[in-house]
Amino acid sequence: MDKKRPAAQYRYQSGFGNEFATEAVPGALPQGQNSPQKAPYGLYTEQISGTPFTAARASNRRTWMYRIRPSVAHRPFKPLPAGLLRSAPFDEVPPPPNQLRWQPAPLPKKSTDFVQGLITMAGNGDASTRTGVAIHLYAANASMTGRFFFNADGEMLIVPQMGRLLLRTEMGILDVAPGEIGVIQRGIKFRVELPDGAARGYVCENYGALLRLPDLGPIGANGLANPRDFETPVAAYEDRAGRFQVIAKFEGGLWQAEIDHSPLDVVAWHGNYAPYKYHLDHFNCINTVSFDHPDPSIYTVLTSPSETPGTANMDFVIFPPRWMVAEHTFRPPWFHRNYMSEFMGLIRGEYDAKAEGFVPGGASLHNCMAGHGPDAATFEKASHAELKPVYLSGTLAFMFETRFVCRPTKWALETAQLDEQYFEVWQGLSKKFKAPGASKKRR
Ligand SMILES: [Fe+2]
Repeated sequence: MDKKRPAAQYRYQSGFGNEFATEAVPGALPQGQNSPQKAPYGLYTEQISGTPFTAARASNRRTWMYRIRPSVAHRPFKPLPAGLLRSAPFDEVPPPPNQLRWQPAPLPKKSTDFVQGLITMAGNGDASTRTGVAIHLYAANASMTGRFFFNADGEMLIVPQMGRLLLRTEMGILDVAPGEIGVIQRGIKFRVELPDGAARGYVCENYGALLRLPDLGPIGANGLANPRDFETPVAAYEDRAGRFQVIAKFEGGLWQAEIDHSPLDVVAWHGNYAPYKYHLDHFNCINTVSFDHPDPSIYTVLTSPSETPGTANMDFVIFPPRWMVAEHTFRPPWFHRNYMSEFMGLIRGEYDAKAEGFVPGGASLHNCMAGHGPDAATFEKASHAELKPVYLSGTLAFMFETRFVCRPTKWALETAQLDEQYFEVWQGLSKKFKAPGASKKRR
């Protein structure tokens, strides 16, 4: 906890997609209407729409902000070099159908903030048609103080692996530690402080429909992630003047504009378009208590649906600590090839389908129809394990699962972090088949 800040700034309101109302100064939030002729205390009124105006009520997102200056008050944007950040169409290099795995990205040696530390690994779709995703790593060692960022291309699902992030947003402050996730929607401005020093993690930039809780079907009204465990910040504003920069990600490129004040100057707001965080410990796992291995969709925390029912633009799936009790069942995931493409990361511990080589901060990518599954060592161990109830502890892996192939960037395929020997983990899977009577015939 940042001791320099009053505790009140860290309060959250709970719920997913709720209509929130919050004011950092009593009386700053107009009552009875959204846009009075004069907002209280000389504040400007501004609405941010996260969906089309006419989106169905259940999915409609917008927030009214009462702020010191409106968002339009900045100098013109100019192009800014994007570093290792990439965007659709992800055609730098042909995507190989190979299984891919990476060691963690090294921490930067020179001063690097969250935006400068973004490294794009893969992506698909197209930001301009609002389909697909980009998958980034971040590795940073410097707080953003006079730099602010917003992403017009998509919302950002941030998964810290090392070091807390203090996300100072227009709607308030989110303190997001490893084991938690933070989501900042399209257009919302923020800056990132690193209260623990160096920080590393993963980002899924979702170009598609806003992330939401999955429907539960026969599971019923409870289970998986519960709405009340999602936390949205209360209003907290900065009244700061200086020579600052606003950075925009817009149509794949980075742009920078000078601004003479902090754009995090929202004194009060109400609405349902606001960033949130969620502690993954709150996820209620549903799993087999009889036999067989459920598909990983049973661990979906959040989903970005597409126009095709049951075919997500992106699912965020976790593999948390849990009891494994299945009888006469091979407990790790069996070998499989999927329609959906799987980008995996590891927050802590070990993933139960890999004996070694997949480490916290690392990543793997198993694209559409790329065969994968347990490595040879895990296969042998799991084939002979005593099937008593086992508590899988100390592990937290996750997956960004997408409907389109995740096309790696040139950096991802050329970096020294790419494990060129990954294929070897399956080479020890020897032939075990013995046809009935086969040995007799050979005699
Ligand atoms: Fe898989």
